[in-house]
Amino acid sequence: MDYFEYKNGVLYCEDLRVSSIAEKVGTPFYLYSHNTLRRHYRVLDEAFSEVPHIICFSVKANSNVAILKALANEGAGADVVSGGEIFRALRAGIEPSKIVFAGLGKTVSEIEYALREKILMINVESSDELMLINELAQKMGVVAPIALRVNPDIDPQTHPRIATGLKESKFGIPLAQAMAEYEVASKLPGVNPIGVHQHIGSQILQPGPFEESLKKITNLFNSLRVLNVDIRYINIGGGFGIQYTEEEPLGPDRFAEAIIPIVRESGCTIILEIGRMICGNSGILVTRVLYNKSSGSKRFVVVDAGMNDLLRPSLYGAEHRIEPVVIRQGAPVVEVDVVGPICESGDFLAKNRKLPKVEQGDLLAVFTAGAYGFTMASNYNSRPKPAEVFVSGDKAFLIRKRETYEDLVRGEAVPRDLEPA
Ligand code: LLP
Repeated sequence: MDYFEYKNGVLYCEDLRVSSIAEKVGTPFYLYSHNTLRRHYRVLDEAFSEVPHIICFSVKANSNVAILKALANEGAGADVVSGGEIFRALRAGIEPSKIVFAGLGKTVSEIEYALREKILMINVESSDELMLINELAQKMGVVAPIALRVNPDIDPQTHPRIATGLKESKFGIPLAQAMAEYEVASKLPGVNPIGVHQHIGSQILQPGPFEESLKKITNLFNSLRVLNVDIRYINIGGGFGIQYTEEEPLGPDRFAEAIIPIVRESGCTIILEIGRMICGNSGILVTRVLYNKSSGSKRFVVVDAGMNDLLRPSLYGAEHRIEPVVIRQGAPVVEVDVVGPICESGDFLAKNRKLPKVEQGDLLAVFTAGAYGFTMASNYNSRPKPAEVFVSGDKAFLIRKRETYEDLVRGEAVPRDLEPA
């Protein structure tokens, strides 16, 4: 359920007309609904209320500080994958004791930053990384709380580009090696193994893959107890799927129902690193129709947002629902490609999509764009990044200004030799 709703053929975000916001900020822009965000967080929190748990919002899904702040106010922690994400989470007031740091290519300065800020734990992805953390922690005179990210070799039944828990994947430590790594870790003076981490993939629609992998992980867990490694956290990763078009994902309560019985007995605190399920349907991308054109039998609607603003369709063939912001009564339905202004044939927001016929200047809403939308935006073709607007009830806030041309060249410098003498 979300708070983007049509009333008499006009799209609202909570109590505000989307078209009125577009008049003020221009297009394209991302638009987020506070109440949707909050609702999704609360439903998830409630679903796992039976067990001690921390919801670490996956910052890569949406890293705007205002979004993070709204979630921090709900009690959320953060799942981060870079120094930049640690910085954002802290800037938003997320407690360091609720921040977990994943990612297989952490640098020295990122690890030092995490240790300085005393985050909850670092999720270690290789034995080289384990050794480096041990060394850095000792130099800093601290003990690094860690989890090992275990690769359970599970097919999460999702798009291959967002599956991460197969043994061919670059992520994590193979389950068969995990015991030995924990044994090593338990003897290193600079690290304290307190958790087990997995993340098997994203946009997973059924709990089956979680059940399968967590069963494997609880076996490991029991062996660790025998070794006297005091594991207090099981981090089940993220990946709960959402509805973009026709998918029928099970809700968080159904995931919880399947997961809790497997992990409850451990007595551990459960960490969830959920991104998409919290913020995906909390955001839309609003774009304006620039031109209609056709070529042979093909019709194109050219809009002012492209793959630089929303990369998912181009990168994964992802489908996002697209609707006019103001519905034209009686408009015939036509099959079109909705394409952006970028000079790439792969620049599209939808292909062969049936849409009511639109006119130049009409606004279109691209739904379910709150996760991996703005965070994957780029300046390709020197296009300024879009604005971001946050609506709460009848109030709208500009939470990120549209970039300017000056922003595009900020930080660039021309060598003196290139200047005319
Ligand atoms: N934890 C880890 C270690 C992750 O790598 C991810 C996502 C998550 C948690 C959060 O997963 P979520 O709950 O959002 O599914 N750009 C792609 C998705 C990439 C996901 C990367 N990792 C997309 O647009 O679909």
